[in-house]
Amino acid sequence: MASEPSLSAPKGTRDLLPPESWAWQKVIRLGMDMFADAGYAPMDTPLFEHTEVFERGVGEATEVVGKQMYTFIDRGDRSLTLRPEGTAPVMRSVLEHSLHRGALPVKLAYAGPMFRQERPQKGRYRQFWQIGIEAIGSESPLADAEVIELAMRFYEAIGLEVKLLLNSIGHPGEDCRLGYGKVLAAYLTEHEAELAGVDRARIASNPLRTFDSKEEPTVAVMAGAPLITDHICDGCKAHHAQVTSALDGLGVEFEAAPKLVRGLDYYMRTAFEFVAGGLGSQNAAGGGGRYDGLAELLGGPRIPGIGFALGLDRIMLSLSEQDQSQQTGEMAAYVVALDEKHAGPALEMATRLRRAGLATDLDLMTRGLKGQMKAAARSGARYTVILGAEEAGPGSFLVKDMTSGEQEVVDGPDLEGRLTR
Ligand code: HAM
Repeated sequence: MASEPSLSAPKGTRDLLPPESWAWQKVIRLGMDMFADAGYAPMDTPLFEHTEVFERGVGEATEVVGKQMYTFIDRGDRSLTLRPEGTAPVMRSVLEHSLHRGALPVKLAYAGPMFRQERPQKGRYRQFWQIGIEAIGSESPLADAEVIELAMRFYEAIGLEVKLLLNSIGHPGEDCRLGYGKVLAAYLTEHEAELAGVDRARIASNPLRTFDSKEEPTVAVMAGAPLITDHICDGCKAHHAQVTSALDGLGVEFEAAPKLVRGLDYYMRTAFEFVAGGLGSQNAAGGGGRYDGLAELLGGPRIPGIGFALGLDRIMLSLSEQDQSQQTGEMAAYVVALDEKHAGPALEMATRLRRAGLATDLDLMTRGLKGQMKAAARSGARYTVILGAEEAGPGSFLVKDMTSGEQEVVDGPDLEGRLTR
């Protein structure tokens, strides 16, 4: 027998409701506008992709691909996956549409939901939002600096204090990260008995990931581990030095984080994370890095790229810990009908004001005058326009300034002008 449908959203997902949704939308708009002002055009990719986009792009050995993907077979027997992140899809899209054959770099920005089947906790969800940018086609360390500065300016604009952690993880060459991987694996083998059980398997598969372990015994071993920064090649070292000097030139402060390795396989050279307060263990409010090998992993030519994605859920959570003030949409006017006869004209007036570009609301619950005035106050509107008031003659209206409480009669044709003052 079919049971009652559950009314709760699936585990790890949630509804985004007012008033939070207002603040949320404002933050996205601010970000997309700020990124556009630096040349990043808005774009969207599908919420699902062929599974291999992530298997090849993000890497099968990663936690994201190995353990967290929502993968399903559709009715056409295709393996599809809800996107766990946005960078591989953006690169897939660049390759599909040959955007890399046009003017470079291709600068793109996006905001939307991502999906990972992680264990839900504060700041960690199964559907979460990211806002991000990707600069594709430039190998210049100046692109790294531009991208990082934009993220920092975005956080500053929304009033969230973050710390920038910066590292270089080299490139996958024997004289660089691969060589380092062997040095690290040797160190880990030496200390194998001291490592937490779950981390022992990583020595062979992905030794760098042991830096992300939260297991006490492993953390203790990693404190003495050789660092990647001492083992990267001269080319990667020079790139990193140019990134840090460009950031210095822009006045962007950072903390060197030689143990920051990031969880996605496509990264090389620059890797960074933004850490915020009030989030407990899920304190990464965003992250990114350079992915010069990603296009090749997806079957395309070599196309360098760098970008970031910022976690909106964590940003909003951290902001709300900082600032409890309620956010609402901004209303310019609320139209009130003195009696039932003026209800129709009230809708016409609200429509007239909306057409003039003024955010306007009105009562649709057939409330009495008192109820409407209460609703007007609740709406946060700057002015209330009252229809049918005796003191206003035909063709004019009573306007109440909701901040000062003052009322005045305004001639019909002057109304829009008065409300924008
Ligand atoms: P990521 O570090 O996996 O990087 O994710 C970026 C941000 O998304 C994280 O710092 C965090 O704020 C947020 N996030 C990740 N997982 C969750 C979750 N389960 N719940 C809530 N928030 C979460 C990427 O995804 C890369 N694509 C970033 C990038 C862009 N690299 C280059 N370009």
